[in-house]
Amino acid sequence: MSTQTTQDFHSVVKSRHSVRQYDSSVKISKEEMTEILQEAILAPSSSNLQPWRFLVIEQEDLKKKLHPIAFNQGQVLQASAVIAVFGDMEWYEHAEEIYSDAVKAGFMTEEVKQAFIASAENVYRHMDEERKKSILYTDGGLVSMQLMLSARAKGYDTVPMGGYDKIKLHEEFNIPTHYESIMLIAIGKAEGPVHPTSRLPLEKVTYWNEMK
Ligand SMILES: Cc1cc2nc3c(=O)[nH]c(=O)nc-3n(C[C@H](O)[C@H](O)[C@H](O)COP(=O)(O)O)c2cc1C
Repeated sequence: MSTQTTQDFHSVVKSRHSVRQYDSSVKISKEEMTEILQEAILAPSSSNLQPWRFLVIEQEDLKKKLHPIAFNQGQVLQASAVIAVFGDMEWYEHAEEIYSDAVKAGFMTEEVKQAFIASAENVYRHMDEERKKSILYTDGGLVSMQLMLSARAKGYDTVPMGGYDKIKLHEEFNIPTHYESIMLIAIGKAEGPVHPTSRLPLEKVTYWNEMK
């Protein structure tokens, strides 16, 4: 069943809510999941180095394996899939490939490419772990948000999850050690009513020009 729909941006943003109860009979085709991921990876990233990596967990036996790792959160079993988002701690190794593609596409000159590669080498390779992780979490957050909005635009619901055991996820799903776990995202079709949440008033979280 395809639920492909196109909605205007405001409806997409306003209708996204974290959903924890899913219609477990709904499957998302590989084609549609690919489209969602394809849109997600249009997100911006530091130096366009796209450190995100995804593991799409859709098989029932694997969702069952993930369930206790995610502290038995029900959406892991009910959702059509759970997408584990990672950040590659060696992301700058792909600089050559990424910038060469940009040159081929006419987006960048060879000269700029060489400068970008040199800068990626100098800046990222020698960074301490903590700063590297902060880049992965920033870029990983942006791609995750874009994924959730892309899913919503197609009529699907999601919930981001930080409640899981990262060490066990690595161990039990054989995740390479240089992949830092960012979050899990359950994706599927909501079952029952979706619950909105409140927000602090904008004036409580926004300063104009000066922080006072
Ligand atoms: C980083 C992060 C981790 C979260 N972890 C969980 C989680 O483990 N389980 C869960 O049910 N919801 C989780 N949430 C969802 C939040 O509870 C939810 O986004 C928040 O209450 C606002 O509701 P809304 O998403 O419907 O606007 C998480 C959200 C974020 C951003």
